[in-house]
Amino acid sequence: SEKWVLMVTAQTPTNIAVIKYWGKRDENLILAINDSISVTLDPAHLCTTTTVAVSPSFNQDRMWLNGKEISFAGGRYQNCLREIRARASDVEDEKKGIKITKNDWQNLHVHVASYNNFPTAAGLASSAAGFACLVFSLAKLMNVQEDNGRLSAIARQGSGSACRSLYGGFVKWVMGKEENGSDSIAIPLVDEKHWDELVIIIAVVSSRQKETSSTSGMRETVETSALIEHRAKEVVPKRIIQMEEAIQNRDFPTFAQLTCADSNQFHAVCMDTSPPIFYMNDTSHRVIGCVEKWNRSEGTPQVAYTFDAGPNAVMIARNRKAATLMLQRLLFHFPPNSDTDLNSYVIGDKSILK
Ligand code: PMV
Repeated sequence: SEKWVLMVTAQTPTNIAVIKYWGKRDENLILAINDSISVTLDPAHLCTTTTVAVSPSFNQDRMWLNGKEISFAGGRYQNCLREIRARASDVEDEKKGIKITKNDWQNLHVHVASYNNFPTAAGLASSAAGFACLVFSLAKLMNVQEDNGRLSAIARQGSGSACRSLYGGFVKWVMGKEENGSDSIAIPLVDEKHWDELVIIIAVVSSRQKETSSTSGMRETVETSALIEHRAKEVVPKRIIQMEEAIQNRDFPTFAQLTCADSNQFHAVCMDTSPPIFYMNDTSHRVIGCVEKWNRSEGTPQVAYTFDAGPNAVMIARNRKAATLMLQRLLFHFPPNSDTDLNSYVIGDKSILK
């Protein structure tokens, strides 16, 4: 039989939300209860590299994550694959003598190998980079003729936050109104050049896997928190408008105030969940104290902090000088080999999908 293999490799950075997504109105399609805004990181620091391959000799869809085979049967992988397959077009490689028609794709199986250069599922948005990269590379392999906005709606069905990793710079995920999710897509706000003074510092507090997945955490919050509806309906819509304006104007004090407040409110609704969810730990709290104290003593914010569904701190410094001073402070308060578990820093400028 035919012995060919066709492959595509892509690299996608992760993104960190400055206005958080927390809570779904549809768990299968992954539709959020509020808009969110994120910044896409530099692929050199936190990214996923994915190779997708197709061959007539493959008899099932298979996937490896960091070298270990994982089940591809999971609904979210299958949802993404099904959506991409449905949009596949003809592919021809004359040199290799390969010709795949639109219909052939429905019967061909794929193999996927994906690597993260950072801890998986420790609250560093590994699923965001992972699903964005999976959808992007499958779309290239199957010659899907759709823009990144349409692809973002497919990545969203893998992991909500993944839709925002299809673009660089600052990105908004619009929750949308439609029941089928067709208008729940990512929109680029400004590209990575717009505010290139910003420097991101990630303090890895723990690389252990989080205890509560974002899916079950969100479900429990939506079902039990008395605060979540107020957050989604009253607080976030106003913050989205203010944040977009702060980003357009490169207004760091407003940006920092909104970013920190939104992270803190997200963790407050987690604590308001029954049973309560604790993603941050004592070290995370001490990092917050350290940043708050310094910002206060400077009179104007130098650094913003934000925490996702895990204890690791993501700090956004207003410029390189502020980032250097922040690092010095962190190293002073959390010296290497101290009794805290803060063990490494990743520093990078924000950047874009390559
Ligand atoms: O898309 P998920 O299931 O990984 O959820 C992400 C949730 C947060 O990271 C906490 C917030 C966000 O907007 O990314």
